[in-house]
Amino acid sequence: MSQYDVIVIGGGPGGYVAAIRCAQLGLKTACVEGRETLGGTCLNVGCIPSKALLHASHQLHEAEHNFEKMGLIGKPPSVDWGKMQAYKDDVIDGNTKGIEFLFKKNKIDWLKGWGSIPEAGQVSVGDTTYSTKNIIIASGSVPSALPGIEIDEKIVVTSTGALSLPKTPKKMVVIGAGVIGLELGSVYARLGAEVTVVEYLDVITPGMDGEVQKTFQRILKKQGMKFVMGAAVQKVDKTKTKAKVTYALRKDDSEHSIDADVVLVATGRKPYTDGLGLEALGVTMTERGQIATNAQWQTNIPGIYAIGDAIAGPMLAHKAEDEGMAAAEVIAGKHGHVNYDVIPGVIYTNPEVANVGKTEETLKAEGRAYKVGKFNFMGNGRAKANFAADGFVKLLADAETDRILGAHIIGPAAGDLIHEICVAMEFGASAEDLALTCHAHPTYSEAVREAALACGDGAIHA
Ligand code: NAI
Repeated sequence: MSQYDVIVIGGGPGGYVAAIRCAQLGLKTACVEGRETLGGTCLNVGCIPSKALLHASHQLHEAEHNFEKMGLIGKPPSVDWGKMQAYKDDVIDGNTKGIEFLFKKNKIDWLKGWGSIPEAGQVSVGDTTYSTKNIIIASGSVPSALPGIEIDEKIVVTSTGALSLPKTPKKMVVIGAGVIGLELGSVYARLGAEVTVVEYLDVITPGMDGEVQKTFQRILKKQGMKFVMGAAVQKVDKTKTKAKVTYALRKDDSEHSIDADVVLVATGRKPYTDGLGLEALGVTMTERGQIATNAQWQTNIPGIYAIGDAIAGPMLAHKAEDEGMAAAEVIAGKHGHVNYDVIPGVIYTNPEVANVGKTEETLKAEGRAYKVGKFNFMGNGRAKANFAADGFVKLLADAETDRILGAHIIGPAAGDLIHEICVAMEFGASAEDLALTCHAHPTYSEAVREAALACGDGAIHA
């Protein structure tokens, strides 16, 4: 007889959420995690610690730039880096312990160690092999460094090292203008580092709405970040305390270099499936090294499911969580579902950047007739009062049916505002539905309503 109904491999947002849902659905569940704490990359060395540093450094920015304007007079605070790190570590500790508590509450066994699958229906952790009816692989992802660039997590770092630098660097080079590069780059820029971002493409945050990309880059430049665009990094040479980043400009192949105290390599992540024994099991993988799954998160081996960063799709904690819940429902004989068309993306800089659904660029490529409703935060009273009026809400709706197809926000609390649009999209709402919904005044959310009004007869405060 099986010891477990489900063993989840990986205790990150995908895995721990899957385990909790399995337990809630009455399945006897265990979760294998080899880290000292639960929560995976997100809670330990990703989303949560980076948000703590983004919050702290934003407070400093406010004190330096806006306090005086509000009559708050005094020297801006100085940075005690050790204390800021301790605050970040406390935040990690509170969150990871919270997951441990939820495991106990839901009677989920945490099998401590690194798991492997000797055969379907079995999971080994250390010297012990457990039998289980179902396995959910939620093993996540790791940074994908550039070939020939050696990471030491001291001078040449990934996001992991960048969260725990011994001190604030004077000069930092960030390779890659994606989410990680811009979030962590802006932390150190606010703390006083000279930050230069070197990006292969001619635009930052590839795949995002073009207008947002331009506005975002302009705002980051205003905040002091420098950009070298269209530049392919070739190598990073290290001395004992410094590094030299060499890149070739794509337009003319000319070679250049910049010195840095710290180089952050933020050129993407790749699925982490090492040591699971997938090859011996014959699990089908995609060309990009992801575990191949069907629409029910099943691999080609019966009883083995996979979710999150280890499979196809955007590498986002909330996408993994949704898949974790859905896979649990499928295992319990229910109907698990994830709407991949309505998965928001958020960049937690200041201002925040958020998006959901189609961009104008994809709608054009698809030849779909659409209309745009745009509203600048400059017309939003609350944003103006809070020195947060840079940015806009842009809503895209079908030209004929008015159905909302996508939304792109750069501005205050964009990462929260996006969700009323997500809910509207889940209900198949039109822009008019949003426009007819009363929004409290004065709130940032009025900008969303105004963008919806702009899809019709016009925004009021434009
Ligand atoms: P990314 O894929 O977002 O960006 C990588 C950037 O590096 C791209 O712009 C690419 O053009 C550039 N690049 C690649 N090779 C280069 C070279 N040789 N020279 C110069 N530039 C080069 O990857 P990132 O930022 O590392 O993030 C990894 C994953 O983690 C993403 O899937 C992201 O969505 C996720 N993540 C999400 C967060 C959020 O939702 N707030 C926060 C952090 C990570």
